[in-house]
Amino acid sequence: MNTKSPDSFSNQVALVTGASRGIGRAIAMELAARGCFVYVNYHSSKEGAKSTLAAIEQAGGQGKILAFTVTNPKDSDQAVADILQEKGKIDILVNNAGITKDGLLIRMKEEYWHNVLDVNLNGFFNVTKPVVKSMLSKRYGRIVNITSTSGQAGQAGQVNYSASKSGLIGATKALAKEMAARNITVNAVAPGFIESEMTQGLSQDAILSMIPARRMGTCQEVAQAVGFLCSPLSAYITGQVIDTQILSLLARRRDEVAKVVSLKKTYQMPVFHPVREAELIANVRNLAARFNMEPDFIEKLYRIILQDSRTGQTRQVKK
Ligand SMILES: NC(=O)c1ccc[n+]([C@@H]2O[C@H](COP(=O)([O-])OP(=O)(O)OC[C@H]3O[C@@H](n4cnc5c(N)ncnc54)[C@H](OP(=O)(O)O)[C@@H]3O)[C@@H](O)[C@H]2O)c1
Repeated sequence: MNTKSPDSFSNQVALVTGASRGIGRAIAMELAARGCFVYVNYHSSKEGAKSTLAAIEQAGGQGKILAFTVTNPKDSDQAVADILQEKGKIDILVNNAGITKDGLLIRMKEEYWHNVLDVNLNGFFNVTKPVVKSMLSKRYGRIVNITSTSGQAGQAGQVNYSASKSGLIGATKALAKEMAARNITVNAVAPGFIESEMTQGLSQDAILSMIPARRMGTCQEVAQAVGFLCSPLSAYITGQVIDTQILSLLARRRDEVAKVVSLKKTYQMPVFHPVREAELIANVRNLAARFNMEPDFIEKLYRIILQDSRTGQTRQVKK
């Protein structure tokens, strides 16, 4: 893939955490293709990190693998110090390392809560703090945090993950304000469902109906958004979250409203008819359950349905 473009940034040094596979690997490859020297961090998958580096080099890029766990502040400090020793700077940091340990809160083991917060949120702190110190001295930096739509909307079965990713969004916005005057931007990318090991085993049928594009995203698509946020072209974008959830919700709602409008056409009568209305309400309830709609949205649907097309008045019904 040749992504070299006018916004390419040669001679820049990037660190991508969790780059042994999936989204992190794609980001590392994207940044290398744009001209960066990329440090490919991994924790346990050395072979995966080596494959990432091999792919970078095969495409004509440069980089190095770097083992450390983002959960350990000392290891993270040392890794950053090693890079600074070798290259003298870190221009780009992508906090991508992340894990899930899903389950309903009521049954969630305490360690699952702490493990996920440790990698996804504390990991951000452990790596970003020493990197930011060096960026401040250079008066330049691009930081991109990989969060998730789960951190924006919350996801049942992912209270720990949603909390960690939500925390990352707050940290992104706050740090962006601290750094804005220093030519350091801090943004986040919130992917929806992306094809990677993390999403293997999820039911495609359940997922696809929630995605406007009706397909999962690819790691490369996430990487290109990150590439843009890391580029000199995005100098005036900071504290932002590039997400797909808003689009997804809007699209879902357009879909729902279209269905309701067509139901309304089918059932609308000049004279109120209690049996038909009961049938209509049952249909709306089914729709609401199927699309997992929020109560206030169901209320709005009732209002749309029950509005008399001639008088514009809303009929009151017992729900
Ligand atoms: N896939 C999706 O649909 C999706 C959606 C939204 C957000 N995201 C986010 O995108 C990021 C990447 O996800 P992915 O799907 O590519 O996941 P993945 O395939 O499971 O890869 C996770 C990466 O994180 C690394 N990692 C885990 N614990 C680490 C630690 N303690 N220290 C350093 N690295 C560590 C892993 O390295 P080792 O194997 O070496 O441990 C691996 O490289 C995550 O932050 C995830 O939350 C993913």
